Amino acid sequence: MAVSIDRENRIFTLHTKNTSYQMKADEMDVLIHTYYGARIDDSDLSQLVIHCGRGFSGNLYENGKGDRNYTLDVLPQEYSCFGTGDYRITALRVKNPDGSQACTLRYKKYELSQGKYSLDGLPAVYADPGEAETLSIWMEDPFSHLEVILRYGVLPELDIITREAEIVNRGGSPVVLKKAASMNLDIQYGDFDWLTFHGRHTMERNIQRTELEHGVQAVGSVRGTSSHHYNPFAVLCEKNTDEDKGGCYGFSFLYSGEFLLETEKDQISQTRLICGIHPDDFSWTLEPGEAFQTPEVMMTYSGSGFGQMSRNFHKVIREHICRGEWKKKRRPVLINNWEGTYFNFTGDKLVSMAKDAGKLGIELFVMDDGWFGKRDDDNSGLGDWFPNEKKLGCTLKRLGERINEAGMQFGIWFEPEGISEDSDLFRAHPDWAVRIDGRRPDLSRNQLMLDISRKDVQDYIIERLCSILSEAPITYVKWDMNRSICDKYTKGLDADHQGEFSHRFVLGLYRILETLNRRFPYLLIEGCSGGGGRFDAGMLYYTPQIWCSDNTDAIGRLDIQCGTSFCYPVSTMGAHVSAVPNHQTGRVTPLQTRGRVAMAGTFGYELDLSSMTEEEKEEVKRQVEFFKKHYDLIQYGEYYRLRSPKEGCSVWEFVDEEGKEALVTAVYSYVISNSPFVNVKVHGLKPDAVYRVQLLKNEDTDPWFEQSELARDRILSGNALEQAGIVIPGAGKDYQSWQFYISLLEEQE
Ligand code: DGJ
Repeated sequence: MAVSIDRENRIFTLHTKNTSYQMKADEMDVLIHTYYGARIDDSDLSQLVIHCGRGFSGNLYENGKGDRNYTLDVLPQEYSCFGTGDYRITALRVKNPDGSQACTLRYKKYELSQGKYSLDGLPAVYADPGEAETLSIWMEDPFSHLEVILRYGVLPELDIITREAEIVNRGGSPVVLKKAASMNLDIQYGDFDWLTFHGRHTMERNIQRTELEHGVQAVGSVRGTSSHHYNPFAVLCEKNTDEDKGGCYGFSFLYSGEFLLETEKDQISQTRLICGIHPDDFSWTLEPGEAFQTPEVMMTYSGSGFGQMSRNFHKVIREHICRGEWKKKRRPVLINNWEGTYFNFTGDKLVSMAKDAGKLGIELFVMDDGWFGKRDDDNSGLGDWFPNEKKLGCTLKRLGERINEAGMQFGIWFEPEGISEDSDLFRAHPDWAVRIDGRRPDLSRNQLMLDISRKDVQDYIIERLCSILSEAPITYVKWDMNRSICDKYTKGLDADHQGEFSHRFVLGLYRILETLNRRFPYLLIEGCSGGGGRFDAGMLYYTPQIWCSDNTDAIGRLDIQCGTSFCYPVSTMGAHVSAVPNHQTGRVTPLQTRGRVAMAGTFGYELDLSSMTEEEKEEVKRQVEFFKKHYDLIQYGEYYRLRSPKEGCSVWEFVDEEGKEALVTAVYSYVISNSPFVNVKVHGLKPDAVYRVQLLKNEDTDPWFEQSELARDRILSGNALEQAGIVIPGAGKDYQSWQFYISLLEEQE
């Protein structure tokens, strides 16, 4: 059993293979948190919670007037409430019918069930009944009868625990939720750093490690989407934690909208972490009997560094969040015309691009922005999802057929949530755009958003998209979204309910995507929001891959993909080889390096092949063959970050789960004169087995290298590779890369 319950003492211990999590309903019926970390037995760890009076920290009335030791203000709790003596950041804040904001949650009962709970209309980790258990704990405010059901999903093999809260108004009058976080984690002892992932358009998910000091630190989004600027993912770690050692907790929010991830180090240096919907733009009225469902957070603990934490998340995302046919099926190598043509194309041009690509082994052609309505730049046409047959030279169906005749599958770009003021849709339904009557809306990319918090607008989009997807042979959709949302207001709700807009927008998005997934199960949908502006575990439930960034520069991508890999597996990271000089940075990198970096993602191309030389095309062909050959290793293998891009030479490894083969890739961000050699340890191999270590031939190695011992294959044991490692050759020029293929020769009995 993953969940062990001591009924008499009301102790709940959740066990995974390597971790344990414990809570207890104490003598005051408060649900206290006692432990999360490396696996332990079922011992009662409430002995770690010492009650002691603290000045200006109040005491429970029901505890008797003489007892000044029991205070919520420092008590580690499972779900903290605002207004009743806990002065730290809190998970739940309500407005009662009398205008007061107090809430007092007390333990009522629990239920344990086999399998993993699911959430209506929201993404959630899923599992077979034998793979998970669900613990639900009921709490209630005895005064207002507000009920909170805390749910815990435990996936023992994966070291994953999920959390969410359902809030039900069991009282007789409406209650307003002002903040309803998905989880609260209190850690009594320890001194932590936290890692957050900040960024901007074309430079997402940079890693920031900061010390937790007294006070509150937070990242979040009020932009309508999870955002380029902060990712809904964070890590709490011990001071000595690095890739391979030290304790760390990872928290990934399965939500694509506004979020807040906050920590507080309190007066006695305890750490609290809260994750949930951002409260700034949120309020939700619960009529008597109504319930509110928070989105889900998944957590993992690793006692052996960030690497293991990431691999835990990679596995759960690949196997228990991504769904449908494309979860296991090999995804096609694609070519997208965006950076090759931008808006300037015709149907014939696209067909010729597809033909060129087909000859090199590329399998899917994606027609990006500009194929519909009046859309020759980004100022008009959004919302008019009718093919521009004049530009395409034929119907969409015929274009798809022509691409198929070139031996390629056909994919198409949409931005279903956007609307241009200069569009027929806006002229017909100006009230469908998100804006506030009587005010000038803020424009971004000269566009507005469609109010998909409304069901009629969702239904319109569903109808339009289904019609297009049914009329042409389309097997892939790139689902883009190109602005942050403001001027939030919906005609679908009255003034008292406007605080529901942002969350309802996300629920609308999920409903549309769910409908498409059901109607077109063969469709591969790639998420996108100006690159990685909505790269979160929530979206991955609907779209198994997401365009990682609008920055296609191989060197820029080293940082972006490294930061992204802290939570998300390479099988989710859209990555393409593009032309040089790179369109975002002007950098000129070798084609080989561009290929190797894009292969640490879903892999594809985004350029006009007709402008390449024959030698370059041969190299593309080799890359595509190589990727297909090693697809399983790259996409399903275990991922190790061996050296950070910040060290000038970025190195990563894929190794299959059984330790039979590994691929190590190294990319230099710049050349250093007469540089020291780089040594990396190879992980995940069988210590007693013997391997061939092959340095793959580079298109541009210099004669010195060919004669060096580095160029020769070596035979080494897994143990030697893990303990002593391999030497990465230096860079003879900027942006050079190297790749080692390591394969099992023989296994010792
Ligand atoms: C932003 C995307 O990230 C790009 O790849 C491209 O699809 C453009 N939008 C098209 O407008």
